Amino acid sequence: MSGLIPQHFIDDLITRADIAEVVGRRVQLKKAGKEFKGCCPFHDEKTPSFTVSPDKGFYHCFGCGAHGTAIGFLMEHDHMDFVDAVESLANSMGIEVPREEGQRPARSYDALFELVARAGRYFESQLKGNQAAIEYIKARGIDGGTAKRFGIGYAPAGWSNVLDKFGTSREAIDRLLAAGLIIRKDNGQHYDRFRDRIMFPIRDSRGRVIGFGGRVLADEEPKYLNSPETVLFHKGRELYGLYEARQALRSIERLVIVEGYMDVIGLARHGIDFVTATLGTATTDEHLNRVFRVCEEIVFCFDGDRAGRAAAWRALENALPQIRQGRQIRFVFLPDGQDPDSFVQEHGAGAFEEALNTALPLSDFLIEELSRQVDMNSVDGLARMAELARPLLSKIPAGVYKELLTERLAGVVGLPTEKLESIIRKDVARQPKHSSMPAARPKPRARGTGNPSIIRRAITLLLHQPGAGQSLDVEKLVGVSKPGADLLRDLIETVQAEPTITTAGLLERWRSHEDGRHLGTLAATELPESEEFDAGAELANCIAQLAVTARKDRIDFLIEKQTLKDLSELERSELRALSQGSAFSG
Ligand code: UTP
Ligand code: MN
Repeated sequence: MSGLIPQHFIDDLITRADIAEVVGRRVQLKKAGKEFKGCCPFHDEKTPSFTVSPDKGFYHCFGCGAHGTAIGFLMEHDHMDFVDAVESLANSMGIEVPREEGQRPARSYDALFELVARAGRYFESQLKGNQAAIEYIKARGIDGGTAKRFGIGYAPAGWSNVLDKFGTSREAIDRLLAAGLIIRKDNGQHYDRFRDRIMFPIRDSRGRVIGFGGRVLADEEPKYLNSPETVLFHKGRELYGLYEARQALRSIERLVIVEGYMDVIGLARHGIDFVTATLGTATTDEHLNRVFRVCEEIVFCFDGDRAGRAAAWRALENALPQIRQGRQIRFVFLPDGQDPDSFVQEHGAGAFEEALNTALPLSDFLIEELSRQVDMNSVDGLARMAELARPLLSKIPAGVYKELLTERLAGVVGLPTEKLESIIRKDVARQPKHSSMPAARPKPRARGTGNPSIIRRAITLLLHQPGAGQSLDVEKLVGVSKPGADLLRDLIETVQAEPTITTAGLLERWRSHEDGRHLGTLAATELPESEEFDAGAELANCIAQLAVTARKDRIDFLIEKQTLKDLSELERSELRALSQGSAFSG
């Protein structure tokens, strides 16, 4: 084949590829926390020091230093060239590699989207013919219009309805597998994943069906079956009902985030359309990034029971780094035993909206929960509360909100605000706590300014957690001219333009760049794994330090010129402005 492989395709491929699966087909891996471990295929070893991180899309051997992405692994392990590795990876994911010919880039996921859409239409058509399924939907209070709007369908009983209808060739079967609609048995035969279930299509932001949730009609386990992770569908990224909400409403002022398919549908049935659900997972960063692109006010709605409060707390923790001026995050707890669907069926839309209006602001929920965990009547309890607040506050980006919340908390625990602030700062300074691999801990950081290692540190942080670069201000790097500064700037701009890019995605972007090899090495260094470690804050800190150094350098330069009586009028006023600025923050 001729033509260039478009960059966006590589970006997408590497983000969607499951590196643990690619490596796992060739090396025996064992799950270890969020990562996988095995014996390194690139050197001889008996104890496993080879690690694969699905989140980062990256593998690394602590023994021999080998590292890379899924594409890199295929190149090294199977001795492929780049193009072959891309093709092999894409094939295993059931997609074609597009080539840029002239102006028109081919689109390779089309066939897979098309298949999933056809499957969705098929399920919808099957609903009409199945009395039991229709009865079930009616019994749950869903009317025809709502069912149609959400594309609700029915997967008939039987092991091969979808397989027989769509799996008419070898390629078609591969595609069904890649779409997660069928399952392969050990003997190489296949069967339908969804059988005798009510089907809820999950649509992406453009309205394309990318996966399904299937509910049993009776009391069976599992109650809901979801499409597996596929190249089109990533649970941690998708929000059920968001597309439908945007279709129904001209503008969305607030979004309610619920837990289930039926909550979205039940509320929509009662005219409450500004609702979306995470798909049985905790709310992730990516979810929040997406909802905050739609509107500035979100209300999490959970059951009032213990599980509901625990889920709300997780949502709160994930939401802290997203706090910004103008954004509102609140929490509603329904009476014990009720979910949004049952609540609205029983009490109606008005009562639900009222509940929304009395939702707890994030700050109140945070303080309420912390107060529950300690004895507020003892000094020890209050000290403990300050301890508990510490890692939470350090996740909030600097700004007015953080200041106000710190002030409020200080009031609650009875400390002067500055005292609480200094306790929190200590936490940030005290980072490497418990690393999984103590031997390979990073060396103590040189603090002072003017140290080129700050740039290296910032790049390393960005590579490990590209999401942490979201809210950095690149402007602050103006005037920083140290080696690596341009690279750092480019990296920040890339992660801001591509909020979902992974470590592997960045490495692939820089593959043919002369800095690429250095980036690989930095991505393979270890960062502290402590829960309290906050890459975003640390990065912001690095950038601030660089900005300070740049200003100092400029001042020194201008002063030097001044002593040589070589200062222009413009430079003179610049020097004045700079020296005044440094009186405040130097
Ligand atoms: P719930 O168990 O609260 O279900 O799960 P629900 O939405 O109230 O369902 P109904 O009303 O009984 O139909 C909430 C969400 O968790 C995921 C689904 O996304 C579900 O909507 N879930 C739940 C699963 O993925 N699998 C399960 O077996 C159960
Ligand atoms: Mn329910």
